[in-house]
Parts: sequence; structure tokens; C-alpha cells
Amino acid sequence: MASISIRNLVKRYGNFTVIRDLNLEIADHEFVVFVGPSGCGKSTLLRIIAGLEPITSGELYIGDDRVNGVPAARRDIAMVFQDYALYPHMRVYDNMSFALELRGVPKAEIDARVKRAAALLHIEPYLDRKPKELSGGQRQRVAMGRAIVRNPKAFLFDEPLSNLDAKLRGQVRAEIKALSQQLKTTMVFVTHDQVEAMTMADRIVVLQSGNVQQYDTPEAVYERPSNQFVAGFIGSPTMNFFPVELRGEGVALSHDGTAVALNGESKARLKNAGGKGVLGIRPEHFAIAPDAAEGMPVAIKLVEPLGSDTLIHFDLAGSTAIARVDPALRPRVGDRLALRPQPGKTHLFDADNGQVLS
Ligand SMILES: Nc1ncnc2c1ncn2[C@@H]1O[C@H](COP(=O)(O)OP(=O)(O)OP(=O)(O)O)[C@@H](O)[C@H]1O
Ligand SMILES: [Mg+2]
Repeated sequence: MASISIRNLVKRYGNFTVIRDLNLEIADHEFVVFVGPSGCGKSTLLRIIAGLEPITSGELYIGDDRVNGVPAARRDIAMVFQDYALYPHMRVYDNMSFALELRGVPKAEIDARVKRAAALLHIEPYLDRKPKELSGGQRQRVAMGRAIVRNPKAFLFDEPLSNLDAKLRGQVRAEIKALSQQLKTTMVFVTHDQVEAMTMADRIVVLQSGNVQQYDTPEAVYERPSNQFVAGFIGSPTMNFFPVELRGEGVALSHDGTAVALNGESKARLKNAGGKGVLGIRPEHFAIAPDAAEGMPVAIKLVEPLGSDTLIHFDLAGSTAIARVDPALRPRVGDRLALRPQPGKTHLFDADNGQVLS
């Protein structure tokens, strides 16, 4: 049993409160990813779970055990850092076996565990090398191997892939995901990378200033963000936001009165909120209106071809917005288009507190 349960957690450094009253339940075998802006408390939370950082107040359970005050070495949790922290003078094999030797595990068992982990990670050919004789991705795998041989109750990863180039990142990302399915161990993974979060997580924790803004599956966080912060944080390029209001029978951009085609349900939600709100449209959820009168008129300011699709930048309602369009359209700077949100793909938020209007 290696569920992780955090209850009413508070963490202060002197007068500075990093985390206030955080509650989080991570299930046994679950792969949970923490995302959030720099300084929001991701590493602090991970270090608290690992036992590297004391709790100011609240409770932490690993499985059924309350581990407040239990030293890191006795928590049976492995942490893999961004900089790997391998011992440079030791061979890969010794880097992996070291912790087990300290614990007095019999030699034959150590050997079996190291070989099993090395096979799992495809690093058998490098067991006799020193870390400096390995590529970044191979070093990263050794760091994971060192964690795996300990057979921990849970793995904690703090941005382990951020030193790798894009191609290797993709590869190691897939390996870690596959590994988590093989090992069936609880994993908590911190990343800045949206793609990592979306592809690896069973559930994503979106943190802001030490508060959980949403804790849900990647699909739910993307499709049904609970507030404007989450909506703006998840997705790349970021969601476009426009203040909107009911005007007569329709909905208009507050800035200049441009009509927006929204369905009856969205209108009802705006009405409940006093007639005003913030409309969110992801770049991939604009459509080109078949009839110019039904769309919002825009002029393209900038074109970014990505190959698979093309981003167009334009001014709308006093700010720059981005739409993702089919490259076959061959958009050019200066072209005029009429855009409208795809039906059912819009988001509406409270103008005052940013909560989703439902
Ligand atoms: N030892 C410390 N003493 C005082 N403040 C600290 C200490 N460690 C972290 N902090 C502060 O706590 C806040 C959270 O830091 P943390 O390292 O958890 O952020 P993070 O979400 O991991 O950020 P990043 O994405 O940049 O790694 C930051 O404002 C940081 O300055
Ligand atoms: Mg950090």
C-alpha cells in the first residue's frame, strides 16, 4: 500500500507561507503530475513527501502510516532530481548498488536487482562505465535505475527530463510511462512541460501559490478547466480570453460590441452571472465562418507555420489573440477572415473571481 495522503498541510519558511491548507489524495499505483508556475510550491511539496523538508502543520500519510517527522531514509521513497546527482567516480553498477550495500543486502540479491533494473532501462551495456562516459539520457536512466533497485513504495521526480534535448525527452518520457505501468508503483512527477503532464499523468494537480486549483484527469483539466487560471495554464498556445456581455438577444464582446455566436446554454449561464463574463476560446477551437456576417472580423497580423498546422495572430477586442488553422488555407499577413468559436467548445468564467460559470 503506497497511497499518499496530505491533509490540511501548511508550510512556512519564516513568515512566508508557501502552502496553506492543502489537501491531496494520491491513490496506490497512480501516476500524478504536479504543474504550476515557477515558485508555486511544486518542489516544496515533493520534498515534504520525501521527508527532506519538515511540515509546519497538517498530516502526511504514506499508505496507512502517518509519517510526519519520520526521516527520509525510513520513508522508503525514491526521489529523482533534475541533475541526477550520480557519483562521478563510481561505475554505473556501483551507482546503482551503493544504497543496497549500505543496507547490508546480500551480494547475490544486489546483483539480481541491479541486472533486472538495468534490463528494464536498457542500460546493461553501460554498467562498467563512469557517468561522464554516458549521454544525458543514459545518465538519466542510471538515476532512475538507482531508484528502482531500492524497490521503493513511491517514486518522486522533480523535473527529471529538463536537461535533455527535445528528442531524448520524448523518448525517456515514453520509457518512464511504460516503466510505471510495469512497476505498478505510485509516481509523483513535477514538470513545466505541458506535453509531459498531459501524456504521462493519470491525474494532474494544477498548483498556484501553494493552492490546488484543479486535480483531475488530463482530459478533464483540458476540456473542463474549473477556473480561468487553469484554463490559461493548460494548453499551448494559451486559451484566448475576451470579456463578453449579453446585449439584447445576443452576446457581444464588451470591448467593441462585436457579436459572438454562442448557444442558448452559454447565454443562460451569462444571464445567471448578471449578464457579464469572460469568454475563453482555445486557438484550436476557432472555425472560419461560412458567412462573413456570422463571424468576428479579424485581420491577420502574424503567421506561424508549424508544419502540421498554422498559428495566426490577430487583434480582437483590444488584445492579441491566436487561432490554429489548417495550413492548406495558406493564410497571409493582412488577410481578413471571419472567425467564430466552434460550437460547444467555448468556456465562460466569472468576471470577478474567474470560476467557471455553470
Ligand atoms: N529554503 C527556503 N527558504 C525560504 N523560501 C523558500 C525555500 N525554499 C523555497 N522557498 C520559496 O518557496 C516558494 C516555492 O518554492 P518551490 O521551489 O517549491 O517552487 P517550484 O514550484 O518548485 O518552482 P520552480 O518551478 O521554479 O522549480 C518559492 O517562493 C521559493 O522562493
Ligand atoms: Mg521546483
